[in-house]
Amino acid sequence: MLSTFNISSRRYLGNKTKLLPFIKEIVEKNCTNITSVADIFAGTGAVASAFTNKKIITNDILQSNYLCNIAWFSPQKYNKVLIEKLLREYNAYDKTEINYMSANFSNTYFKEKICSKIGFIREDIENLRNNSKINQKEKAILVASLIYAMDRIATTCGHYDAYRKNGKLADTLTLAMPLLYEKINTENRCFNKDANELVKEIEADLVYIDPPYNSRQYCDAYHLLENVAVWKKQAVYGIARKMNRDNIKSEYCKHNAGEVFADLIRNIKARYILLSYNNMAIKGNARSNARISDETIMRVLEQKGQVKVFSQEYKAFNTGKSSIQNNAERLFLCKVR
Ligand SMILES: C[S@@+](CC[C@H](N)C(=O)[O-])C[C@H]1O[C@@H](n2cnc3c(N)ncnc32)[C@H](O)[C@@H]1O
Repeated sequence: MLSTFNISSRRYLGNKTKLLPFIKEIVEKNCTNITSVADIFAGTGAVASAFTNKKIITNDILQSNYLCNIAWFSPQKYNKVLIEKLLREYNAYDKTEINYMSANFSNTYFKEKICSKIGFIREDIENLRNNSKINQKEKAILVASLIYAMDRIATTCGHYDAYRKNGKLADTLTLAMPLLYEKINTENRCFNKDANELVKEIEADLVYIDPPYNSRQYCDAYHLLENVAVWKKQAVYGIARKMNRDNIKSEYCKHNAGEVFADLIRNIKARYILLSYNNMAIKGNARSNARISDETIMRVLEQKGQVKVFSQEYKAFNTGKSSIQNNAERLFLCKVR
């Protein structure tokens, strides 16, 4: 029997799963005639998943998120029987071979045997796709299943900046079947671009924006999942075994984030813009300081339309180094003029 998983069965910094009721309520009470929603910093796709009764556009700069978003939201048909057969075969793999994963990651985040299994599975998916035995959606479902399975057992505290040196490494890696939505809009589209470029090409009734808040790059935190998703088998270095990430660094984690944000808002074509941004500007350690000030957010959004701010208290992610209290996740809703 294959087990199953859903979109939120994954650890992801800043994911909005818990905020979904709040987000939905704001949209329902304050926006009219929403037929399309663009989640342009989609991450796991959690927010898009709250709008599956509408046309959804997802986007993320990381290919690991892009493939998961295709698995959840792309309207392309897929062969469920074939996927289940492949997942069962993958779960039965019980060898130890030398491949990219075992050569580079043995006994770091995973045992050598598990690395060998990940390397074998990912290579097989690539070959099946290159030989047109599976389509893009089927590839995405298999890669998503692998990413979620890896995430369940990696010896990390949820991100891959480091692994626990004396952590107990798991003995088994089990791929499960995603519980895909039965009805999704046939016009859904998924992208893997810089959001600032994407907004020049798309239109939606509501554009939801959830950029990184601070200097912490998602490509650093999730390099291993990204490496497996991209599968270019790049050289890795350092204790954390990261590959080169120059082309996937986010401008939203840098000092010029305010200007990049202004450029994004200027180019958005939507009736409503909903922005998530927390209030860590002057709290916590330097790394967690927000990159865009409230003054900049308000100035930029007010140039575009009428702005309302909503907030909800939440418990912040705490690395143990800083004690942060009274955090509020804020939502800025801009009714575009
Ligand atoms: C706060 S997370 C989004 C979390 C998401 N709402 C969820 O619930 O899972 C920010 C996301 O933006 C992506 N990102 C960062 N810079 C980007 C850019 N310039 N264009 C597109 N995506 C970007 C990151 O890879 C990350 O997944």
